[in-house]
Amino acid sequence: MRERTRVSISFELNGTHRHLEVDAHRTLLSVLRDQLGTLDVKEGCDEGVCGTCTVLLDGRPVSSCLVLAARLDGARVTTMAGLSADGRPHPLQEAFVRHGAVQCGFCTPGMVLTAYAYLRQHPAATREELRRALAGNLCRCTGYAKILDAVEAYAREVSLGR
Ligand code: FES
Ligand code: FES
Repeated sequence: MRERTRVSISFELNGTHRHLEVDAHRTLLSVLRDQLGTLDVKEGCDEGVCGTCTVLLDGRPVSSCLVLAARLDGARVTTMAGLSADGRPHPLQEAFVRHGAVQCGFCTPGMVLTAYAYLRQHPAATREELRRALAGNLCRCTGYAKILDAVEAYAREVSLGR
């Protein structure tokens, strides 16, 4: 039987420092959900297709089911819960609720994080650009129009300084 390789990793999760021993073959998704109980990160296809497991790794959206835990050492990980401040949802989450962009909610964390990261880089993005930016995040419920409405509305609020 092959021996399992363990690695020691230190990283920041939503502003809190974490130090863990993990099996080297484990994914970031597995460490977040199974080892740390970070259940706002959802598990869908587990093969990099649906975008449900998206988190921000050093500010960039990644499919956490495709990232090995060993890659985490020294990194900064943000999940949707990490966008909240003082226990309040982030304004982008509020826009999702206001615009009816949340139905079962399974895709919502990945959608919110992908849109958030994209708008930080492209604050004046058009609806078509937002549609392309979110193309890797699948939603089975909403038909996407309400999600785009929510992201556009949030982008407008930010550009107006609200
Ligand atoms: S669960 Fe990671 S992309 Fe689908
Ligand atoms: S709201 Fe159900 S998958 Fe998107």
